[in-house]
Formats: sequence, C-alpha cells, structure tokens
Amino acid sequence: MHALVRIAVIRHPAEDDAQHRRPADSDFKTMSSSDRHLRAVNVPNNWAPASWRSRPALQLPTYPDAQALASALEELHALPPLVTSWEITALKQQLAEAQEGKRFLLQGGDCAESFSDCSSEIISNRLKVLLQMSLVLVHGLRLPVVRVGRFAGQYAKPRSTDTETRGDITLPSYRGDMVNAPEFTADARIPDPRRMIKAHARSAMTMNFVRSLIDGGFADLHHPEYWDLGWVTHSPLADEYHRMVGAIGDAVRFMETLSGSEVHNLNRVDFYTSHEALLLPYEEAQTRQVPRQWGWFNLSTHFPWIGMRTAALDGAHTEYFRGIRNPVAIKVGPSVTPDQLLKLVDALNPDDEPGRLSFIHRLGAAHVADKLPPLLDAVRRDGRCVLWICDPMHGNTESTSNGYKTRRFANIRSEIERSFELHAAAGTRLGGVHLELTGEDVTECTGGARDLTDTDLERAYRSTVDPRLNYEQALETAMLIVRKHAQLAAPASA
Ligand code: PEP
Ligand code: CO
Repeated sequence: MHALVRIAVIRHPAEDDAQHRRPADSDFKTMSSSDRHLRAVNVPNNWAPASWRSRPALQLPTYPDAQALASALEELHALPPLVTSWEITALKQQLAEAQEGKRFLLQGGDCAESFSDCSSEIISNRLKVLLQMSLVLVHGLRLPVVRVGRFAGQYAKPRSTDTETRGDITLPSYRGDMVNAPEFTADARIPDPRRMIKAHARSAMTMNFVRSLIDGGFADLHHPEYWDLGWVTHSPLADEYHRMVGAIGDAVRFMETLSGSEVHNLNRVDFYTSHEALLLPYEEAQTRQVPRQWGWFNLSTHFPWIGMRTAALDGAHTEYFRGIRNPVAIKVGPSVTPDQLLKLVDALNPDDEPGRLSFIHRLGAAHVADKLPPLLDAVRRDGRCVLWICDPMHGNTESTSNGYKTRRFANIRSEIERSFELHAAAGTRLGGVHLELTGEDVTECTGGARDLTDTDLERAYRSTVDPRLNYEQALETAMLIVRKHAQLAAPASA
C-alpha cells in the first residue's frame, strides 16, 4: 500500500505545489496539451535517500578512514546543488515527448571525465561537437533534439575487476577521479573522500562554463561558425556539413525576411547533464527536498543512469533510484531477460509516469539482432512507456594486437542501423542515442571517414578508460542516423 498519492506536474517553479491529489477525470479535460502528460504517481513506500544502505551495493570503494568520509559527506551535504528541480521536470517533459516520437535524444560525452580535463578548451570543444551533431539531427530528422551531456559529474567508473595487476604488483583498480587516481602506485589508488568535494566543484565549474557559453549566444543558430573546430577544416565531412549549415542559414534568413524581425528562440538551446550515479554516498548527499515540490530530487545532475553492472533489481542502486523524482535511465546489457526488464519497470516506474524511465540498450553489433527483439516485445506487450536509447559503444569494445582497447566504427554503425531496423520491425521507436565522444582530435576508435587503423591508435590515444569517437566520427554518426531514419521513413518502393 502506498501512503500518499502525489501528482507529477510539469509546472513553473514559482507556482505553488499544493495540488497533492490524484486529478479527477474532469481535470484532464481542461488541461493544456503540455499538461496531458500529467499522471498521478505514488510516493515510494519505505524509501529514504539512505535506504539503499540496507541493500547489496556493488562497485563502491572501501574508504579506509570512516571519519574522513563522514566529514566529506557532511560538507557535500551543505554545498549548493548543481541543478534545479524545475530543470529536471522540464527535461522529464522533453523525454516524455521523445517517447511519443516528437523529439530525439542525443546523449554524449566522455567515458570518464578527469579533473585535469576541466579546461575551457576541452569543455567548449565537446559542446561544439554536440551542437554540430544536434544541428545535423534536427535538420535531417525534422525533430527537436533533446541535448544531454555525459559531463559535469561523470567522475566515477565501474570496473570489471576490483584489482589491477602489473608484473608482480597488485593494486586496487582505478575507479574514476571522484574515488582515486589512475597512476599505478599504492598511494594513488587509495580511495580519498575529499575527491567527492573536488568532483562537485569541477562539475560546478563545467556546468557554469556551459551555461555561460549558452546564455552568451554560443548556441545561436545565426552563428554556427562559432562551433567550428579548427583542426577539421579539411575533414572529408566538412562539405556535407557546411552545405547543411548553409541551407539552415537560408531558411532562417527567409523566415526573418518574411516576418520582418529576428526569429527568436534560435539563439539559445537547452542543455542537460547526466552521469552514471554509481557512487551512492555522493548521490545521497546531493539528494534534496525543495520548496513547493514534493518528494526528493538528485540535484547533482538532471538525468542519472544506472550502469549495467549495478542494475540488479534488489541492489542498492535500484533502491536509490526508486525514490528520486529525476528522469532515470538503465543500461541494458546482453544478459538481461525480458522478465528482469519488466520487474525493473515495476520498481522504477510503477505508475507509468511519462518521461520517467529510459532503457539504454548496449548489446553489441554481434548480439543486437538476437537480444533486442524479445526485450522490445515484452515492454510493448506490457504497454509501458519507456524511452529506448541505443548505446552502440559499450557492447563493441575489443583489444587490438598492439595493446589498445578500441571500438571499430563499422560495429558502432552496424549496431545503430540494426537497432533502428529492429525497433521498426517490433513496432517500437528508437528515441535516442548514447555515445562516448570528444571534441578532441584523438585516435581511440578505428574506422570512420578517415579510416583510422590499429596503428593510428598509437598517435593520439588519451582516454584512461573507454575509447571515444573523435569529432569526425561523432559527426559521421549523426549523419548515418539521419540517413537510416530517412531510409526507414521512405515509402517502400513497389
Ligand atoms: C559507461 O557508460 O561508461 C559504462 C561503463 O557503461 P555500461 O554500464 O553500459 O557498461
Ligand atoms: Co564507457
């Protein structure tokens, strides 16, 4: 039994949130179209920001100094949040629209942010490539794009083993800059709770810079040249991209000539943040109640997700996610069964609230055709609303003979294309993509327009964790999504 019924309403922050009741049928008739997503949702039973502590928690570090941990968490608890509840509910509304096929989600950024990469160039280059990709998608899909960065908090990493051995030395694994340091020394690998405070500060700096750039007009459609990345002037994709920018510029000028004034809303975009909410003590300390809203919000990010390794139904991460009001996502790997997926829907979205739940499938090019259809069928038959997102990166990681962890562009492409086809065949909708990318000229994934080889990986491999798409490969991915979408939308020829 649920104690109370609350209503998930997308509402202006200044409005009072006193309407704590299930709306009557007559209320729905008078709602504006944006309010039609309104659903009664129940306050989660027996939940508190710390209730995850009674469940098995995987992938969490053991801090050697309990006192230091407690004092870092206390400090974190007192620090201001990084995002606001009304931004979170606005994103939830956009994700609800993506579920209906009215928007497409682009989620991307580093596998792991590092403290040393919190620099203006790296942040603005990543923003540039995401803006360019979203322009390609808006133009090609004829849909507004929900832009979500994998940044401003992506500092904790799950690892396949707890320890790392080199020669005859074994040390605890590196778990992201929020936990310990990547250098292979005993000191560097000791989990240090002060790193959570630093991660919060670095996230705030990243967020501040992104917000300032966008508020200052960096995303202005009148000036897409702001997003050009110097090193790609001679890219094989440059012509196609610039033709598209030219066509959009012409359309904007045409509309402005017709209306006799500037087209508004073209000079800013919404940008949201996301990270894997892995380090639960950190997430708990940023979980807050806010005035005029019921329930609890994770205010360290707009859109947290549960990683593949921590998505057990009875695990600590699922318990924590159950009670927050943010939109949430779960990574779905090849071992997840349809039954497990439906149980996760019950646990995380029992009231079928639109926009609340996304599944990010990351099955690998070799398995997607076998593994995806039963999952899609089960959720479709159950009639639940979820947003399906394809992560074509994490099921396609391999090691090269020269010792690099890489991903082949052909496999990434194939997983995206197959996913579009499989959704179309199942009567479901692929509503977004989740990518690891950077605006830097790295060589971490092979293939793509420049056909990078295993030997090229030696030139500019910078990731401390997973290989990312570089700028060109990222843009090419946006272009291939558009082509695949157009191909599936075209009426079948006789
Ligand atoms: C990741 O997104 O970096 C990651 C570790 O993904 P997954 O949980 O899908 O393996
Ligand atoms: Co990764």
